[in-house]
Amino acid sequence: MSVQQNEKVTRVTIPKLQERARSGEKLVMLTCYDASFARISEEAGVDMLLVGDSLGMVVQGQDSTLAVTVAETEYHVRCVVRGSQRAIVIADMPFGSFQESPAQAFHNSARMIAAGAHMVKLEGGATMTETTRFLVERGIPVCAHIGLTPQSVNTLGGYRVQGKQEDAAAKLVADAKALESAGAAIILMEAMPAAVAKRVTESLAVPTIGIGAGPDVSGQVLVNYDILDIFPGRKARFVKNFLEGAPSVKAAIEAYVKAVKDKTYPGPEHSF
Ligand code: KIV
Repeated sequence: MSVQQNEKVTRVTIPKLQERARSGEKLVMLTCYDASFARISEEAGVDMLLVGDSLGMVVQGQDSTLAVTVAETEYHVRCVVRGSQRAIVIADMPFGSFQESPAQAFHNSARMIAAGAHMVKLEGGATMTETTRFLVERGIPVCAHIGLTPQSVNTLGGYRVQGKQEDAAAKLVADAKALESAGAAIILMEAMPAAVAKRVTESLAVPTIGIGAGPDVSGQVLVNYDILDIFPGRKARFVKNFLEGAPSVKAAIEAYVKAVKDKTYPGPEHSF
């Protein structure tokens, strides 16, 4: 038997991640769309690989995330699962695949779980409470996504920072609490003032993952094409190029992991 066959790599579990967050360790999530990046990302120490619907923009070249399909996400989930052994793989449910009813959400989420995902991510606040409960009670772990929800770009009027006024901030806290009560295992928060993300995090027992939500959250997520400066165009304030000064792509991902774990990313210049 070879050395490789002797080595048993165990996949991180969601309760284990929650425990690590409770003990104060920062969690690291990164988007990922293929097997090669899955392998080097987890070797670099990434805890969770998000097959984000950002694939519509960074891989497919579309100008929003709205046209990504269930079949496309399912294909990329299979690729990422094949390339990974340790990280939790999260499938980002595409626009139109879960909003209609809990039954529709279960049907499409079950396809992601069958493709190998360990969790699904649903954009939306308290309106997703019933669906979240329905999925969790039927064995599908849920990561909720609140704040700037890019699938709602047309109703939000653009990719804007959310929760700037007190009533909107209070609603974000209420949304997060409702989703936690419904069974969400992780709450992802995008583009909101750091003080609001801190308030949400302090009101919950489950971990929070931020993107443009400041440092006072349980962990961070970024788009891998952004940290490697591959995606062209205007960069969001929270984006940091970790390839700068790094000798390889893997070293850049390691630098991202280290910066999240030792709390040097995000700095005030990346926060709202
Ligand atoms: O699709 C995606 O990449 C995401 C992250 C930005 C959180 O949802």
